[in-house]
Amino acid sequence: MLRLAFGLLAESSFRCKLIQVVSSDVKPVRSMCSWTVCAHHRQRNQLSNGLQHANVRRASHSTLDPAEVRKFQAMASKWWDLQGEFAALHSMNDLRVPFVRDNLLSIHGMQQEGKPLTGLRILDVGCGGGLLSEPLGRLGADVVGIDPVEDSVRIAELHSSHDPELGKKVRYQACTLEELAEEEAEGFHAIVASEVVEHLADLDVFASCCQQVLKPGGSLFITTINKTRLSYVFGIVAAEQLLKIVPSGTHDWEKFISPEDLERLLESVGFCVEAVKGMMYNPLTGAWSWQQSTPINYALHAIKRKEEPQPDRVCPENENLEEPGRGTSYS
Ligand SMILES: C[S@@+](CC[C@H](N)C(=O)[O-])C[C@H]1O[C@@H](n2cnc3c(N)ncnc32)[C@H](O)[C@@H]1O
Repeated sequence: MLRLAFGLLAESSFRCKLIQVVSSDVKPVRSMCSWTVCAHHRQRNQLSNGLQHANVRRASHSTLDPAEVRKFQAMASKWWDLQGEFAALHSMNDLRVPFVRDNLLSIHGMQQEGKPLTGLRILDVGCGGGLLSEPLGRLGADVVGIDPVEDSVRIAELHSSHDPELGKKVRYQACTLEELAEEEAEGFHAIVASEVVEHLADLDVFASCCQQVLKPGGSLFITTINKTRLSYVFGIVAAEQLLKIVPSGTHDWEKFISPEDLERLLESVGFCVEAVKGMMYNPLTGAWSWQQSTPINYALHAIKRKEEPQPDRVCPENENLEEPGRGTSYS
């Protein structure tokens, strides 16, 4: 019955959504410098890829969507409420922290013991209250968390200040990725952008700037929501309107992206996608689990190629990895 109700509800809303035109009222942020640096990739990729990733939003020239910023501004005091709006993000750490840790350990040939990520610089884009930055800092990484919502950054700073262990490992900055990219060319071993890309105005800018701030061979970890009917039913109708797991209006289905489109975009700016894994949230237990398929949530790991991207080149498997036997799998 519940499934049928979801289906009917979603079907009618889904049709309405499909005829909506995405408005582009986003104003440029004050700094566009990195955009000019990234522009040659974009120009070349547009020529070579044509409309290959036409589903990917473009043309705002900034990652910043003012409406999204206002949304997270209103929730900024709730980051560390374990039962509140961000409860599902807290429990997602059970999957995403090992996903980041284990991939980095295998790439860098490091050991599990002690603080295994010591010596690695990680950028947490859209860090919010620092839910992911903190555990990565405790694993020994030097983490920089950035978020355009200043109140979230203040909360993140305040929370991490309670743990003396984190003092020197995690620092936060209220800024956009494009602003940071101006100061930090090839400065990071890894970037995490968890549940962030579905809130951005322009994914081309995001992808190019990630490429810019990562060291060659560096890792990009993304978790996000697929653009499917199921993600509309469960990610928006069920999660926001019926079960109230997150506040109504948190997500816009138009901004979701399929793993295939995300992979095409990342490869066009010089990444090789190494792995895509499905994730599933159980609202009854509040726990996440890995899944074979990716109809709703997924995690992606991509590696920045060591040389400049070439238009017609197919990503060779494991080019940047020491470990054999891993290629992209939509599992
Ligand atoms: C769903 S929250 C995820 C927070 C954090 N990554 C986590 O998983 O705990 C999305 C975050 O993206 C941030 N955000 C929105 N627009 C952004 C942008 N243009 N650049 C970076 N972060 C942005 C929001 O302020 C918010 O903190």
